[in-house]
Amino acid sequence: MLKLYDLTIEYKHAPLGLDEVQPRFSWKLDSDQQDTVQASYRLRIVQGGDVVWDSGTVASAQSILNEYLGPNLTPRTEYDWTVTVWDNHGETAEGTSRFETGLLNGSAFEGKAQWITHAPDKASPVSPVLYKDFVVQGNVKKARLYATALGVYEAEINGEPVDDTYFHPGWTNYRKRLQYQTYAVTLHSGKNHLALTLANGWYKGKLGFMPQPNHYGDTTAALAALCITYEDGHEEWIGTDESWFCTTGAIQSAEIYDGETQDFTADPAAPQPARLFDYGFDTLIGQENEPVRCLQRVPVVKEFTAPNGDHLFDFGQNLTGWVEVEIYGDKGQKLTLRHAESLDENGNFYTENLSWAKATDTYILGGGKQTLHPHFTWHGFRYICVEGLQYGQNVQFTACHLSTDLAQTGHFTCSDKRVNRLQQNIQWSQRDNFLDIPTDCPQRSERLGWTGDVTAFCPTAAFNENIMPFMTKWLHDLASELGPDVSMPQVVPNILGNQQDGAAFWGDVVTVLPWTLYRAYGDKRILQHSYDSMKHWVEFIESQCGENGLWQTGFQYGDWLGLDAEANALGDERKGATDDYFTANVCFAWSLQILADTAAVLQYTEDARRWSRRREELVRAFRAEYVTPTGRLVSETQTALILALHFDMVPDEFRPRLLDALEKNIGAHKTHLLTGFIGTPFACLTLSENGRHDLAGRLLLQEDDPSWLYEVKMGATTIWERWNSIRPDGSFNPANMNSLNHYAYGSIGNWLYTKLCGLEILEPGYKKFALRPQFIKGITHAELTYESVYGKIAIAWRCEGGKITVDVTVPANTTAELTLPEQPETLTLGSGSYHYEYATETSLKIDRYSLETPLHIILEHPAAQAIFAQYAPEFLSNPMLEYVKNEPVTALLAYGDSIKPLFEQVLAVMNQADKE
Ligand code: BGC
Repeated sequence: MLKLYDLTIEYKHAPLGLDEVQPRFSWKLDSDQQDTVQASYRLRIVQGGDVVWDSGTVASAQSILNEYLGPNLTPRTEYDWTVTVWDNHGETAEGTSRFETGLLNGSAFEGKAQWITHAPDKASPVSPVLYKDFVVQGNVKKARLYATALGVYEAEINGEPVDDTYFHPGWTNYRKRLQYQTYAVTLHSGKNHLALTLANGWYKGKLGFMPQPNHYGDTTAALAALCITYEDGHEEWIGTDESWFCTTGAIQSAEIYDGETQDFTADPAAPQPARLFDYGFDTLIGQENEPVRCLQRVPVVKEFTAPNGDHLFDFGQNLTGWVEVEIYGDKGQKLTLRHAESLDENGNFYTENLSWAKATDTYILGGGKQTLHPHFTWHGFRYICVEGLQYGQNVQFTACHLSTDLAQTGHFTCSDKRVNRLQQNIQWSQRDNFLDIPTDCPQRSERLGWTGDVTAFCPTAAFNENIMPFMTKWLHDLASELGPDVSMPQVVPNILGNQQDGAAFWGDVVTVLPWTLYRAYGDKRILQHSYDSMKHWVEFIESQCGENGLWQTGFQYGDWLGLDAEANALGDERKGATDDYFTANVCFAWSLQILADTAAVLQYTEDARRWSRRREELVRAFRAEYVTPTGRLVSETQTALILALHFDMVPDEFRPRLLDALEKNIGAHKTHLLTGFIGTPFACLTLSENGRHDLAGRLLLQEDDPSWLYEVKMGATTIWERWNSIRPDGSFNPANMNSLNHYAYGSIGNWLYTKLCGLEILEPGYKKFALRPQFIKGITHAELTYESVYGKIAIAWRCEGGKITVDVTVPANTTAELTLPEQPETLTLGSGSYHYEYATETSLKIDRYSLETPLHIILEHPAAQAIFAQYAPEFLSNPMLEYVKNEPVTALLAYGDSIKPLFEQVLAVMNQADKE
């Protein structure tokens, strides 16, 4: 039987306030028959019983993003839609859903509402409350509130929040784009009270490294229009205007970085008429992304007194959000909550890494039972330090985890608990930093939309959650920031001013992100919308290139936070050793490739040719400058080797040599990476794609500093900004830039999905995908599920006790190419579930001895001694052995690897001897 499910329009279920004039419809097929594909479909859009658009029967397998092609949609109107699908087995199914349009044009506020503000004291930190009382007469059919603000706002009707979402109107490039929100609200018959509380937010609040206020303006203001539709069909509008009043509530101050103060003993300001504020309507747009919600409530796991006497509470998880306080208190009692991500090495509350952020919430209680939380701030924390509690006072603290409410699409687990914790840490850091925009960190005085972090992390992010509308909004902001003075902002929205320079990798987000989204969701529109921005970036780089065709001027972040550089004269050790322009030109080649591919998808044939030709020229120039005639790289760091291999920057005949150099370099560092933001995302991918998957596996499972599992071993519950944010002795890296919640190094998630589980996109949106799981020693089973735009893809593999089992699920209307481990052929599978089981001699248990074993342990083993005595007696008598005996074999091989086969044989015999 065929069924349809997950009907969405613009990725949303039955949205309210849809502001897209040509929306796209998607649905998923579910069938109990194997090999199901959609043969044809028919879409019907109905409004008030009339068919507005009927697509007719369309012979097509396209079940995602089918464009509305009917007459113009009417604003503020409810539509029903029905899709009928016929499949290849002759089955039919039907699904229905609905949507309601928004204003479809921000200027529709005009004549219905005016911008209003409060009393003229702009400097007062107290949050104004703008309100209006009105009377409802008659039976209300529905009521919709359209609202926005300069600042952040929360709307209430009759003392209740209009919904469970926060931080509206969200952060956009307010100079050009300001979102309004649509709420379905319930009114009483008779008197009603509508109130909007405002705070500074991103618009007027303090932002930046050295926090400064008023990035967009110095006055908070509100715009709201409530439309009441009565049963008899007539409409009544209540809009913000001079008939509104202004007062104050409990919120005495609220800043994103500093926190919020609420005083329940403060008298509200005497009501004054609201003032009109001069601000237009032409930047207004409907909300594009999903709202911020509390996704999870986390209880206290431990209450304790720190060595220095502080009263601390531990939530057991570093997270973004705020603390809800439920308390019985006395009127006037003052309670202060400070927030921190960690304790220091002495077990005291550690706030030094918050930079300028005060991250403090203060409550002056009103007396009796109160449940409190901030409204216009958030913190990145695991611990709170509480002052002002009375002995034995009845209080409960609950951490509320706030994030943009995105659907989780990816799940991964395996036999290694540490790797599972790593995966959870990646997902936590993603949610913690996807708060309306993709931020770098949630705790210190920054929380900006740093572009390079997104370049590093976006493929992983697109596995974990459906990031499409979230990133579409952000890309629209990015596009709106570009201009003659801005080649590419390094943060979006841009509060850092004009940037003539553009840093590679950071700027490349403009090509990498849309392309990643297109591949993951099959959405061509994001390419159309991004094409001009992509070109703007590439043409900017062109303008910087010298006569040799290479980009070798201007500021670069380089391989940010790589560990292989010496501190420079300024004591700045933040940049890895890889030559800045080496990385810049590889990134340029990457962007050119994406631009050429994008042009091809959009059928801009001439452009596609132009950009491919330019890439070829660039690669030639790159080779002349950075690759020696015999196949070495200048700046032969781990990152340089990884990039040269991954982005195909060297002639094929040099690849083995570079791969070898990479392996030796990693070996010389005892199987550790020193890579920064640019090298890390590609490190394990490059190894796996070039026949060194085993080494990628050893890097994944490495436990000492620096490594992914080192953080896990140190108790991390999120991904750190630096490999060494906390040192082995528990002390903090002294650098002031040291967040414990940054997602860039979480980019290893991509490798877990695509290499360990082997899920790779063959056709956009996973219409066709590969499943090629690859085992590593130390992990005996792994499974992943991914909710693609066509439905759930699943793969689970197990290699234990001489048997391999693989279970696979392929969603309807897609095809999988399955390559089973240790099997020669690739199977083409239509939709359905499949189970495979076969014998193997492979054991994935970690051998006791490996190339990572220190030499002296090997030399002490009788089996090893016997082999060396027979085949390489001179080795045993080499006096230099004394100096290297504590080194692992890998470190030794970095000096010359002719002896490697012998070691491999020795290790195999040692492992065998120990088993017997
Ligand atoms: C941020 C980074 C960002 C970087 C730019 C930092 O302060 O936290 O993640 O990409 O600056 O180099």
